[in-house]
Amino acid sequence: MLRLTVIGTGYLGATHAACMAELGYEVLGYDVDEVKISALQSGKVPFYEPELPELLARHVAGGRVAFTTDIDEVANFGDVHFLCVGTPQQPNGYAADLRYVHAAIETLAPRLRRPCLVVGKSTVPVGTATTLATRIAELAPAGADVELAWNPEFLREGFAVRDTLRPDRLVIGVQTSRAERVLREIYAPLLDAGVPLVVTDFPTAELVKTAANAFLATKISFINAMAEICEVVGADVVQLSEALGYDPRIGKRFLQAGLGFGGGCLPKDIRAFRARAEELGAAEAVAFLAEVDAINMRRRARVVELARRECGEDFTGRRVAVLGAAFKPNSDDIRDSPALDVAETIRRAGAHVSIYDPEAMPNAAARYPQLDYAKTAFAACENADVVLHLTEWQEFREIDPAALGEIVAQRRIIDGRNVLDPNLWRAAGWMYRGLGRP
Ligand code: UDX
Repeated sequence: MLRLTVIGTGYLGATHAACMAELGYEVLGYDVDEVKISALQSGKVPFYEPELPELLARHVAGGRVAFTTDIDEVANFGDVHFLCVGTPQQPNGYAADLRYVHAAIETLAPRLRRPCLVVGKSTVPVGTATTLATRIAELAPAGADVELAWNPEFLREGFAVRDTLRPDRLVIGVQTSRAERVLREIYAPLLDAGVPLVVTDFPTAELVKTAANAFLATKISFINAMAEICEVVGADVVQLSEALGYDPRIGKRFLQAGLGFGGGCLPKDIRAFRARAEELGAAEAVAFLAEVDAINMRRRARVVELARRECGEDFTGRRVAVLGAAFKPNSDDIRDSPALDVAETIRRAGAHVSIYDPEAMPNAAARYPQLDYAKTAFAACENADVVLHLTEWQEFREIDPAALGEIVAQRRIIDGRNVLDPNLWRAAGWMYRGLGRP
């Protein structure tokens, strides 16, 4: 049985390690972050992801998955090394920051003394795999017995386990039939279950991921652009979206208008795509992504504007309640969170902002210590002049508007995700405002 390693144990890597153990492999996870590794070693997931804690605990206890900070151990252990490190946006630009990818290859490759396959899963600019393959050939003592393949990952946070064990498709970019054979063997349980496989070259595999995220971002910004028009003419984007979605060529998923997309993937991936296209002299091809980004950011500004209006055009001394801090529900991830972006903008404009989120408060407080964090949704809304619903957790959908109405200063709510029932809130005496809705 092949022995697998996973390099980088964030959302992607930790999930991949646990899921590969679930498929029956012996897995060794590696990270430079000792705090993360010691949590994982004791079977604890250092972030919020449904289903993952149970899966990980089971396979750590059963001995099928282990974790280390020792790269020599990793190099000796693995027949296949999955590269799962992060590729964030560069601090001073739009391009992807590849320092963790390069660091991983620079430390791992010189230690590869036996035949093995390195499999890149991180989201990288097209062309990266070819560069890395050359570098591995230069560094690895085992020479041509070490190969690279590219196997992009499409998992969504909140559904990471499900998306890994039952993906829509598998994509593998390879240079030899040997690499293809190894990956077919690893994913045999998924392929046997009917998961489609697309075998490509390196640049195509890299591009599938970039293109998928660009398409999803475009779809969201399309409906948000329609929301802007709806706001001008008094139409209802929720009904518009429903009606569009019945056309199977369009489809209803990723067509929810609201505060727009955030997170550790879509925003930085469309920016990195533009930066890479520019380097390649193909900037025009994806120039529209600048517009996609701009539409998305305008939604945040729009919520701030609506909130300001409800505060009498001046935030000074007003109390604003924010429900939601995570970039989306069922996650504690606050990377590029639209909710926190709005909250911080309003705080800087002079309001007192009180936030509640079921899972993301520790991360939010670490990143934005200047904001005020309440213990419950109701506590956040106490004496509020306006309530902003910015991340659509189930808990917020279940709030009783009448009960909440008792504790706020003004019954005004802006639903940044268009999921609350306007009739219910209005019947309880609230001024309800959605985005792109009359
Ligand atoms: C995304 C891709 O879906 C996934 O395939 C890829 O591997 C990583 O990036 P993720 O970042 O976990 O996954 O979140 P996703 O569920 O795609 O949502 C992205 C953002 O879009 C969220 O902020 C969400 O609130 C927003 N969104 C989504 C909308 O505003 N409207 C929609 O209709 C759908």
